[in-house]
Amino acid sequence: MTAAEHPRFISIDSVDVANQTVLARVDFNVPLDQGRITDDRRVAGAVPTLRSVLDRGGSLVLMSHLGRPGGDGYESDSSLEPVAEHLAGLLGREVMFPSRDCVDDTAKKAVEGIKPGEVILLENLRFHAGEKSGDVGFSEQLATYGDIYCNDAFGAAHRSDASMVGVPRCMHPKPCVSGLLLQNEIRWLRDAVANAEHPFVAILGGAKISDKLGAIRNLAGKVDTLVVGGAMAFTLLKALGHSIGRSLVEEAMVEDARQIISEVEQTGTSLLLPTD
Ligand code: 3PG
Repeated sequence: MTAAEHPRFISIDSVDVANQTVLARVDFNVPLDQGRITDDRRVAGAVPTLRSVLDRGGSLVLMSHLGRPGGDGYESDSSLEPVAEHLAGLLGREVMFPSRDCVDDTAKKAVEGIKPGEVILLENLRFHAGEKSGDVGFSEQLATYGDIYCNDAFGAAHRSDASMVGVPRCMHPKPCVSGLLLQNEIRWLRDAVANAEHPFVAILGGAKISDKLGAIRNLAGKVDTLVVGGAMAFTLLKALGHSIGRSLVEEAMVEDARQIISEVEQTGTSLLLPTD
């Protein structure tokens, strides 16, 4: 999204949602064990935004991804259905889960018939390859679902998926706003970095170093120590010449990893990697 389209953050709290349908991108990518949610923090984290809409007479169409399905249609292991049930408990009201396909006729009809105070959770967006590829046609279909777009998916904010970028672009000039979770996370991160007390340590994890290069560059020189864990550490260890056995590695990023290590060293930030 360009700055010209949306020159500043607008909060969900500051738009009139009465009798409006808010199409909210949330990050309900929760861990599941045989259909049971083992950590619901991402669902609970979205509740303030959802309540803010419902309490002011709006309706909600929620969209999310879960896991990394193949993009060829429904996969029961990655269904968001257990999340709909769990969210209903948290909100104390029904959460409709109309279909196994977020853009089929059943889903579309359910959205068309939504009334103030009602909540629909769409099935996993990533059952369509168009979500990851940012497909315009897929974005256009989803964009018809709301009068207002709200992004409260902090955990997916670094993704250029259709629901993150294409949908708000298609919905313009309808209001595109940020949710309360997203705002709080950004505010907290900004304050933590701007008003840091030393010693200041940042801990980064995740599978891919390619996703984190920007974060590492931004933190280098600001933090005293950067602790890197998770699978991404293997790419850095390989760049340093260590043997990593059969561990997950981004081969294509090894040279970039070497470069980033040298950049971090030059700033005086020490990089701490796993030792075994
Ligand atoms: C996460 O869990 O990191 C977010 O939900 C993003 O998921 P992704 O890495 O599969 O895009």
